Amino acid sequence: MKRGKLFFILFIFLCFIGGILFFVVSSLKVSLKTNRLILYEKKNIADVISIQNGTLVNKDSIDTEKIGKKKIEVIVKDKLNRKHTYTFEISVIDTEKPVITYEKEIKVEEGNTTDLLKNVTVVDNSKEDIKVSIEGEYDFNKAGEYTIFYVAKDASGNVAREEAKLIISEKKSVIPPNTTTSSSVKDKTFTTSKGFTGVTKNGVTYIDGILVANKTYSLPSTYGSGLTTETMNAFNKMRDDAKKEGLTIYISSGFRSYNKQNTLYNNYVARDGKKEADTYSARPGYSEHQTGLAFDVNTISSAFDDTKEAKWLANNCYKYGFILRYPKGKDKETGYMYESWHFRYIGDTELAKKLYNNGDWITLEFYFGITSKYAK
Ligand code: DAL
Ligand code: ZN
Repeated sequence: MKRGKLFFILFIFLCFIGGILFFVVSSLKVSLKTNRLILYEKKNIADVISIQNGTLVNKDSIDTEKIGKKKIEVIVKDKLNRKHTYTFEISVIDTEKPVITYEKEIKVEEGNTTDLLKNVTVVDNSKEDIKVSIEGEYDFNKAGEYTIFYVAKDASGNVAREEAKLIISEKKSVIPPNTTTSSSVKDKTFTTSKGFTGVTKNGVTYIDGILVANKTYSLPSTYGSGLTTETMNAFNKMRDDAKKEGLTIYISSGFRSYNKQNTLYNNYVARDGKKEADTYSARPGYSEHQTGLAFDVNTISSAFDDTKEAKWLANNCYKYGFILRYPKGKDKETGYMYESWHFRYIGDTELAKKLYNNGDWITLEFYFGITSKYAK
């Protein structure tokens, strides 16, 4: 073969190899950098996708508001300006454990029992259900100091575990109650803008006989010792009737002492700032939970809003003397955002029915013509 021809064949061969190499090097490659994102993490498609020899077309943000698997669609242009669509699956995970607020020491007299979860509140960043349980051995009939643990588990399996002491004291002989009460704080009587008579007795305000605790009317720090018997009896009746309809209702936060509310409120302020916390949590001394007449049921979050239980309660609670205390869109009146889970016992079923107003709830503030505003 002539030398010229040989060079020509070699040249063509090299061009061919070059072409293949160029094609391999410049071909489009799209892959996922991570297949896991943390709940509420702010990420765009661009942050999680790795592209070679192409450009991303849709740079939208990824919705990480809910845990679970989600599909993301990725549109990419190659070097020849052709569009390609890829679908990737990404998991949104929650890595934060729930926060338990509780009393470090619970005291009960031997032979008496107490609901160990009654003063426990659990808050979680996810909108999922949280399971709360108690671990540890104790005997209400045997005086002693027991170590118990509050355990809260969220739907992603993050577990919070807090240690508390259960002190069961020996039974004392009954001391007759003190019959003389000194009224150190002066009673104050007033009339509301709608003509109702209000009276503040020993620091507790009653309007037309109904105890009122809101941002205007506070409670003494020593007030309250648990949910009242009337509140519990009415709740049990309501819960049993709901059960007959296949619904499960339980109290997830009942009575909260001044100190308990103080811890809770301060935790929220540390997390969200004072202004935000004031929209959903009462300052110590201003919470209805301290009255012993109010409680939160089931899941304390907007995840409860559209449940069958929430709807049933909103439409039936008045029959048992309860009101939905913070209805939707009444923030300006009550001082708080909508809480589908917070109920208040007022006892008087006629008044409760009036406030129910065929489902268009009237607030206590509007009905009595009072405010709910902090003095400072
Ligand atoms: N969440 C209600 C307003 C309270 O803290 O009492
Ligand atoms: Zn509440």
